[in-house]
Amino acid sequence: MNLILLGPPGAGKGTQAERLQQDFTLAHISTGEMLRQAKADGTEMGLKAQEFMDAGQLVPDEVVIGIALERISKDDARDGFLLDGFPRTVPQAEALDAEMAGLERRITAAILIEAPDEDIVRRISGRRVSKSGRVYHVEFDPPKHEGRCDVDGSVLIQRDDDKPETVRERLAVYHRQTAPLIEYYDAQGLLRRFDGTRSPTEVHDHIRATIATLRLEDEL
Ligand code: AP5
Repeated sequence: MNLILLGPPGAGKGTQAERLQQDFTLAHISTGEMLRQAKADGTEMGLKAQEFMDAGQLVPDEVVIGIALERISKDDARDGFLLDGFPRTVPQAEALDAEMAGLERRITAAILIEAPDEDIVRRISGRRVSKSGRVYHVEFDPPKHEGRCDVDGSVLIQRDDDKPETVRERLAVYHRQTAPLIEYYDAQGLLRRFDGTRSPTEVHDHIRATIATLRLEDEL
């Protein structure tokens, strides 16, 4: 199962990826997480990416394509992956297709989680993340103990790019540069749409059922 999670910032890609990864034992590959880690480590690439991320812009294709494709070819992704936040432009999708063809693999489905812009701003302003990247929401998905991660106990923080003005820019960038991928994957018969305005558990149930069906079809 080689799956892509598509959708606007704050639609719930990371939230669902975490759950689906456990259901189906897939490598969760988040380019956003990889870039934030590179930034925290102070690597040259991380510092270069920081200015784009903090401005709500996409990191240039030549940087992101390299790190994403390298990650896909690692051992833990050989039996399947869940791409979260990649591809995000048509050139990235084309580079992924070429890599998959070279590996004699194919994309199983592109899972689109849809949510309107008004919901996104509310969700992102309440988002808190742990040191290990576990995602919470102060209202919709709170931790058991306020301000602390249920899993690693770390203090929950707000992401640097979750300021309202940056969120508006990220949304504009999504509509301009990433939304064309909906048509790209629909034309290949790979698109599956999900209503991201439902509760995280309902969204998870719907996606899980679809993936289970896809897996059965794949095995036939
Ligand atoms: P990235 O980290 O990928 O951010 P994003 O796509 O903007 O997505 P988010 O992580 O903001 O949202 P999400 O959909 O995962 O939602 P979440 O589950 O957290 O990218 C960050 C930056 O890195 C980019 O702006 C860019 O600069 C750069 N970058 C990354 N990949 C790149 C690429 N391929 N090319 C170029 N640049 C790249 O949920 C949000 C909140 O809502 C949480 O608090 C959650 O608890 C809550 N929530 C989730 N689901 C629900 C629900 N159903 N109901 C109510 N609340 C919910």
